[in-house]
Amino acid sequence: METISLARGVPAPECIPVEELADCARAAVQRDGTTVLSYGPVGGYQPLREWIAERHGVEPSRVLVTNGSLQGLAFLADRFAGARVVVEQPTYDRPLKLLAARGVDVTAVPMDDDGLDLDALAKALDAGPKPAFVYTIPTFQNPSGRTLGVERRKQLVEIARERDLLVLEDDPYGLVRFEGDRPPTLFELDGGEQVVYSSSFSKTIAPGLRVGYFVLPQALDAELEALAVSTYITPVLLGQATVFEFLRRGNFEPNLERVRELLRARRDAMIDALEQELPSATWSRPQGGYFVWLELPQEVGDAPGVAFVPGTDFGGAPNTVRLAFSYVSPDEIREGVRRLSAAVSARGEVAAAGPASRGYAT
Ligand SMILES: Cc1ncc(COP(=O)(O)O)c(C=O)c1O
Repeated sequence: METISLARGVPAPECIPVEELADCARAAVQRDGTTVLSYGPVGGYQPLREWIAERHGVEPSRVLVTNGSLQGLAFLADRFAGARVVVEQPTYDRPLKLLAARGVDVTAVPMDDDGLDLDALAKALDAGPKPAFVYTIPTFQNPSGRTLGVERRKQLVEIARERDLLVLEDDPYGLVRFEGDRPPTLFELDGGEQVVYSSSFSKTIAPGLRVGYFVLPQALDAELEALAVSTYITPVLLGQATVFEFLRRGNFEPNLERVRELLRARRDAMIDALEQELPSATWSRPQGGYFVWLELPQEVGDAPGVAFVPGTDFGGAPNTVRLAFSYVSPDEIREGVRRLSAAVSARGEVAAAGPASRGYAT
């Protein structure tokens, strides 16, 4: 029996516009080869920086384009090594590892279906030194799939202003919305004073290009650029120029529409299968993104033939599971959930297999 992966938070192969990107890469080299194949500005490929800056209404000098947004997160963690950082519980595990490796004192604040619990946040803020920043993934969160409600967004920005707090809004999934109205980003509500915004073309074009970015206050941008220079001199300009060519040709929105439909079918398959197969469990109902958060009646154990990541990897409770619907086909999703359900009924508990056992989620 081949294992079905509900662990991999990566796009299904058909989400990646391979032929068009091959053409864009060639065109980027032909048009601007001596720039994109040389060392260049550490902040990124200038036309792309300008495109991002315009989209977010800031000066290009406030945009730092990195080799994936995770690289920018690593720079931010370097900058605030040893400080206190507040995160959501659960949260994306890689930042947790990056922060831990830099001696950061991490405080985890619980969430509910409407996102970060702001009363719990206020208590956590009162209970310790002022954190260097609050790390949040407000839209289609990894791992929970939850989205912070509009009222809470406003309140969070208010809290940040009152307490002069820096908030890092990590938003790689915001544009991958299948339905419902888009709430304003924290960055939009705040106007870019207290909120650092990060996003990526990993979920909207292709992760292998490794193009992510940060919109930063000017002073912090200069500090992170200094860290970036001493790490790689220049980020991978070819990937950035390929992304820019893709945008310049007007491919971004049509591709997003295509990707949304592919993922919507997968999300629907997962929710339908959960309703049929696991009536004793509860789960999040995301309007976009890659993930569903499953809460089982008992602790998680072993499930033959299906891989997933246990919620504990993200700081979640032992009865929680992250299910990714992004990677496999709708039929495989249905079969994967069926196998999970069979394991739950057979033993009353299930365990992570495959990628989960290696201790890394995407
Ligand atoms: C919340 C979150 N932030 C950042 C990343 C990393 O994105 P990138 O590919 O831009 O490094 C991911 C990838 O899955 C993610 O889920």
